[in-house]
Amino acid sequence: MSAEAKAALRELVLRRRGALAEEDRASSSGRIITAVLDLPAYRLSGVVLAYASFGTELRTDGFLRRVLGDGKTLLLPRVERGGLTLYEVRDLALDLSPGTWGIREPVPERCPVAAPGNVDFALIPGVAFDGNGGRLGYGGGFYDRLLAGLTEGPPLVSAAFEVQMVDGVPVGPHDAPVHAVVTEEGIYPENGRPAGL
Ligand SMILES: Nc1ncnc2c1ncn2[C@@H]1O[C@H](COP(=O)(O)OP(=O)(O)OP(=O)(O)O)[C@@H](O)[C@H]1O
Ligand SMILES: [Mg+2]
Repeated sequence: MSAEAKAALRELVLRRRGALAEEDRASSSGRIITAVLDLPAYRLSGVVLAYASFGTELRTDGFLRRVLGDGKTLLLPRVERGGLTLYEVRDLALDLSPGTWGIREPVPERCPVAAPGNVDFALIPGVAFDGNGGRLGYGGGFYDRLLAGLTEGPPLVSAAFEVQMVDGVPVGPHDAPVHAVVTEEGIYPENGRPAGL
């Protein structure tokens, strides 16, 4: 799919997300995270890949706290050599520091490197999504490359505001879809999700 079509959609959706009122962002974030935590696939999981939110993204802090509080293993990515390396994070206050683009990332001196193959639930960030799991990221291809390396694919779930949903995300062969998108209005796709989602 054309990079231009992706760039235009990214800009449109980021503008829409940026226009949300702070209090709506906070209340929707809470509702969406609660719905994600209710998914059977999350509850049954032992190793959770997630991300620390930044900017106008839905806030994932409550999710990260719950993963640790539930006694699960929490993996967060760090940008290294043009790709994402996963690290196990045990303390959100001590183990993270702002890295590339100001996003909070694991501190390598404090966190063990973790194998992506052990992930059994993944929360995947993104800018725009469609009802079939089509996903548009920030344009680096970082998650597409990470997800391409996961063979026994874990459930891939994105949490997003309803304003990030579009009719059709322009996708190409490299673009990895997610299995479900949870918004403040429901879970997509409405039918045909894998068991546990
Ligand atoms: N598996 C892959 N192997 C090689 N190149 C890839 C792969 N996946 C994506 N790319 C390249 O990465 C670049 C950015 O891709 P794209 O615009 O789809 O990023 P994105 O999905 O928005 O970003 P992200 O995955 O980081 O959220 C493109 O040039 C694309 O060809
Ligand atoms: Mg992509």
